[in-house]
Amino acid sequence: MEWRHKDLLGLAELTKEEIELILDTASSFKEVSTREIKKVPALRGKSVVNLFYEPSTRTRVSFEIAAKRLSCDVINIIADTSSVRKGESLVDTGKNLEALKIDIIVLRHNSSGAAHLLARNVGVSVINAGDGWHEHPTQALLDIFTLKEKFGKIEGLNVTIVGDIAHSRVARSNIWGLTKLGAKVCVCAPKSLLPIEIERLGVEVFNDLDEALRDTDCVNVLRMQLERDEKTIFPSSLDYFKQYGITMERLKKLKRNILIMHPGPLNRGVEISSEVADGENSVILEQVTNGIAVRMAVLYLVTQARETIKNEAHH
Ligand code: CP
Repeated sequence: MEWRHKDLLGLAELTKEEIELILDTASSFKEVSTREIKKVPALRGKSVVNLFYEPSTRTRVSFEIAAKRLSCDVINIIADTSSVRKGESLVDTGKNLEALKIDIIVLRHNSSGAAHLLARNVGVSVINAGDGWHEHPTQALLDIFTLKEKFGKIEGLNVTIVGDIAHSRVARSNIWGLTKLGAKVCVCAPKSLLPIEIERLGVEVFNDLDEALRDTDCVNVLRMQLERDEKTIFPSSLDYFKQYGITMERLKKLKRNILIMHPGPLNRGVEISSEVADGENSVILEQVTNGIAVRMAVLYLVTQARETIKNEAHH
């Protein structure tokens, strides 16, 4: 199996085998971070630009660390302090970065489809680090990688995603990835936070959290996006916590332990209690660690593919 894409834009467009190739490549890179000298020369001489139009802690730092562990040079651009403030378009920004002879742009953008737009207009690799409500492929890949480490396989697993499904790129990418790999995916949210016809993505829908958790192996808890006007979608954070918050009392009612995941950042006391987030079944910080290996794999695979495509065009 060979990776043939210069970009990673979403999991919707990938095959099961391509997703498995990223996970296998990430497995082989994971060991690098345990070495005394955490570096391999795989991308020496290459440059990656982290181009972020939205705030981020985990994704941006994780991509930077991943690139540095591959000996790749890294430049960080925060849109607010760049010429974006002077009105420069995304495509013009991308073309100028290409003129500066960089190799990869890691893009986080508030508009769905931004990474696709950029990838169509530049020859460098584009990696989607989250676009609007659309996809956050490396987050889903690190979630799936963590599940695979814990359960040994994805096929047949029962994964429940709880929370603001409607506005969640993390939910969409997880649904694409997990269903392609043969997991059963359930989503649970109040009706106001569920997109219409979500069933068409092959998931089972629940409005009652206790019912949704009954047979699940893992719950992936989404962040309530409090920067939005939550009153239009749910009366208050307290009401949400009562009905949809993951608490120890709720988990104790289940017959078995379930794995607790959250993409971060956490709203403690809104979608998850501190006791659960910091409890022994939580793998929230392991997810963060696994993000490095997954992003190393993606940076490596897109670079190889771009060079193969370039060489083929010259012959
Ligand atoms: N999970 C995630 O995307 O976190 P950041 O917004 O901090 O990158």
